[in-house]
Amino acid sequence: MARHTPVMTVMVAAVRKAARGLQRDFGEVENLQVSMKGPGDFVSAADKKTEKILFEELSKARPGYGFLMEEGGVVEGADKSHRWIIDPLDGTTNFLHGIPQFAISVGLEREGQMVAGVIYNPVTDELFLAEKGQGAFLNDRRLRVSARRDITQCVIGCGIPHIGRPDHETFIKEERAVMQNASGLRRMGAASLDLAYVAAGRFDGFWEVALAPWDMAAGIVLVREAGGTVSDINGREDMLNSGGIIVGNEMIHGQLSKILKAARNA
Ligand code: IPD
Ligand code: CA
Ligand code: CA
Repeated sequence: MARHTPVMTVMVAAVRKAARGLQRDFGEVENLQVSMKGPGDFVSAADKKTEKILFEELSKARPGYGFLMEEGGVVEGADKSHRWIIDPLDGTTNFLHGIPQFAISVGLEREGQMVAGVIYNPVTDELFLAEKGQGAFLNDRRLRVSARRDITQCVIGCGIPHIGRPDHETFIKEERAVMQNASGLRRMGAASLDLAYVAAGRFDGFWEVALAPWDMAAGIVLVREAGGTVSDINGREDMLNSGGIIVGNEMIHGQLSKILKAARNA
């Protein structure tokens, strides 16, 4: 994007500012792996610090907009039509383990519709952004979803539930069905980046259930603006409330949806 709209300029500036501390903290995590206490508390402090910077910067630039944040929850604004949806650190488990696959994700909702998103991995310096009607970009490069038409040629991303998360049995059914039909399955560990990877054509499709709104908000705009199709698990557009999401180009989205549905009902 040669020139950002004013609101995108605000989002990018806030995210880049917040990312500086997060990147520094990631450098520290490795040292802490060997300490008795482990890096857990340190990471949760890094998470909160990052969110605080985003909150301050965005509040300053757009007073009145509301917030939905992973750490701070809901902050009502005077302007009821705009809301920032924020995950200050998506991919916490990766971060904690020194795996450089994590991101800050900031989405903007207007009148209940996602209209802008920024997803930034400070380690790779990959800044994914999109605004409704303006296209999707990785740094300065315009993004398109992949053009593959047959799922047997496709790399599909997914989320794997872990201890305490639903629903292991259903996931195993879904995974079996997708792996029997696709050329590769990936679990990278940061849903926002998974969606950005679909927008960038790196993944041909992605699905996950039981996500939170902040995992998906920005990524939904990215995928749509890159020409992709987005739905929840039931083919509706209720991703943020239902927690489920399926994405891909129109063909792959259709094939993946069908395979997942058959697997769940088997
Ligand atoms: C998690 C990541 C992960 C997904 C989980 C999310 P967090 O977010 O996006 O890829 O599978 O469901 O909770 O906890 O790292 O912010
Ligand atoms: Ca997350
Ligand atoms: Ca998080």
